[in-house]
Amino acid sequence: MGLDFVTNQEIIQAARKNLTQDIWDYLSGGAESETTMRRNRLGFDYLALRPRVCVDVSKIDTATTFLGQKLRIPVMMAPIGSLQTITPEGGVAVAKAAKEFGTMNFVSSVTQPSLEEIAASTDHPKIFQLYIRGGLDWCKEIIDRVLKAGYIGVCLTVDTAHYSRRERQMMNRYLPPNKRTETSRHYQGMLTWELMAAIKKHAGLPFILKGVATAEDAKIALDYGVDVIYVSNHGGRQLDHGRGTIDALPEIAEVADAPVALRAQAVELRHETPEALVLEDFRLVAAPAFEVELARLALRSQGLEERRAHFGVDRALFAPDVEVAGCDLLEFGVRPRFVHRITWRQATS
Ligand SMILES: Cc1cc2nc3c(=O)[nH]c(=O)nc-3n(C[C@H](O)[C@H](O)[C@H](O)COP(=O)(O)O)c2cc1C
Repeated sequence: MGLDFVTNQEIIQAARKNLTQDIWDYLSGGAESETTMRRNRLGFDYLALRPRVCVDVSKIDTATTFLGQKLRIPVMMAPIGSLQTITPEGGVAVAKAAKEFGTMNFVSSVTQPSLEEIAASTDHPKIFQLYIRGGLDWCKEIIDRVLKAGYIGVCLTVDTAHYSRRERQMMNRYLPPNKRTETSRHYQGMLTWELMAAIKKHAGLPFILKGVATAEDAKIALDYGVDVIYVSNHGGRQLDHGRGTIDALPEIAEVADAPVALRAQAVELRHETPEALVLEDFRLVAAPAFEVELARLALRSQGLEERRAHFGVDRALFAPDVEVAGCDLLEFGVRPRFVHRITWRQATS
């Protein structure tokens, strides 16, 4: 990031100028009527903070670990396909940025350059994200490459059986590069829990299931020994008319409970709306100017004491936090209820 950027808005404006309309729409759009995408944001708009004051937060540490690896703040970079259409280095640029910032990145199986090249581009730990484009043998071949390249975890994205109708892309007659040539996408629709388990077993690495959106599926995943449940609706780009991710989180948190690492969509970086970036996870923002303020606010307001007692909206926000940042927070001794669900009128005023 250039030093001349001091706000998220400037970064976004510069990106908008730099990218062509079709790429911008590819980045920004959702599925069909974009209702799920709007609900992702709306879910956060209904949550209001109840900040607490006069708590010493002069020394805070936002660092945490994920899969045993240190993160400077509890935010990671979500898998993004076709990165080469956005920046010439593609996935390598993201890997370098993640390393520089002190976080981890997920490497999409549908981005360029190859998984080996991205792995070799930095020495910091990375997670590989797989889309199914073949049967078990095909998956095993890819996983063998992933193991050889030194990834520390495997993430299987299961959020949809089919590529959605993305009207913004269709208006531009735009298809991302992998979709222009791929003939094996239908394998995604053939995915079963048994196949998932076979891939997991072959990988033998920490295994993340991305795209879980209900308690029922979270429970099955846990029964299969999935290590990390990644609550996501793909930014509203796959199934339309779904719930916002933050609204799906409480029921999943309830079945997952504390021992299981729970990662919400909240730990993903958002591309377009800076407010959303902030609201999606006010603990986890990319811009340093926000980071300090918001981390403080969040840390002020944590409440481990209530962790087991509340499964509502509070829990929805606390759950990933407890997991990623929990123990350090005990030292602050603050136990307020932090998040409050507000009415439509309050949310829109
Ligand atoms: C342009 C773009 C490409 C994406 N590619 C992938 C991908 O290859 N694999 C994947 O699991 N998720 C992919 N996602 C979904 C993200 O990993 C993430 O779940 C989503 O963007 C979060 O929503 P948000 O962007 O509103 O924060 C993609 C999202 C975008 C915007």
